[in-house]
Amino acid sequence: MRMKDKVALITGAGSGLGRATALRFAAEGARVACLDAVDEAAAQTAQAIAVAGGAALALTGDVTDESACAQMVKETLARLGKLTTLVNSAGVRPARPGPRPTFAEWQRVIDINLTGTYLASRAALPALLEGGAGSITNLASIFGLVGGATGASYAASKGAIVNLTRQMALEWAPKVRVNCVCPGVIETPMTAGLRDDPAWAQAVLKRYPLGRFGQPEEIAAAILYLASDEAAFVTGVALPVDGGYTAG
Ligand SMILES: NC(=O)c1ccc[n+]([C@@H]2O[C@H](COP(=O)([O-])OP(=O)(O)OC[C@H]3O[C@@H](n4cnc5c(N)ncnc54)[C@H](O)[C@@H]3O)[C@@H](O)[C@H]2O)c1
Repeated sequence: MRMKDKVALITGAGSGLGRATALRFAAEGARVACLDAVDEAAAQTAQAIAVAGGAALALTGDVTDESACAQMVKETLARLGKLTTLVNSAGVRPARPGPRPTFAEWQRVIDINLTGTYLASRAALPALLEGGAGSITNLASIFGLVGGATGASYAASKGAIVNLTRQMALEWAPKVRVNCVCPGVIETPMTAGLRDDPAWAQAVLKRYPLGRFGQPEEIAAAILYLASDEAAFVTGVALPVDGGYTAG
């Protein structure tokens, strides 16, 4: 039980990587608050945890809303106890990747991916300081480390998350560790539309030395390591989990 006595708040827990992480944390003994902008999605993850015998709470909220971030922390503390762990998995990719996103599209991606990560972290900080051995794990991307076939807004938001992670790690040490994972293409609803195109998949897979896309559970395993006490001496890192994509 690698997360025994931990209370985790996971944003974007209704789908994909957030959901896989919520299920894995609960299986490892954590009590998990599952926050999503889509209320049925959060409820379904919390329900799956409960059915498996774990402790979970479903929360609805938008991470770009400062008061919603304060509320999610307040409810987690009231219902699950002292907060030890935050995972920022709420995120979006551009509706129309390309070299000239509209200003509205640029702003939507930056607001949710970057500002949402900061607002949720900022809201959780006092509770994490009080909870002891606190950690935050952010979802960046390979496109926070290198450029590539993604939109400018997405690459900018993820690059900023990598350096926000480092900055928070310095400012919030020694009480709160802050790390991020940088996944390659993972088989979640976010990438379904892309992977469904065989020409796209074939071309992109050529850049993956391991010859396949990742599974959500493989990202959850990396987040579990960073959030657990096994990583007690790890802060400020950006960990690629990408089948070797960024090695080339
Ligand atoms: N799937 C990949 O290949 C991949 C690769 C690298 C990085 N990532 C990053 O990992 C994170 C999770 O991606 P995923 O594949 O699980 O995506 P997903 O679309 O499956 O899940 C994202 C969840 O975030 C929620 N969400 C969106 N906006 C929100 C908001 N404003 N407030 C609260 N919740 C909100 C959505 O409702 C959804 O349930 C994202 O930050 C994404 O950029 C994903």
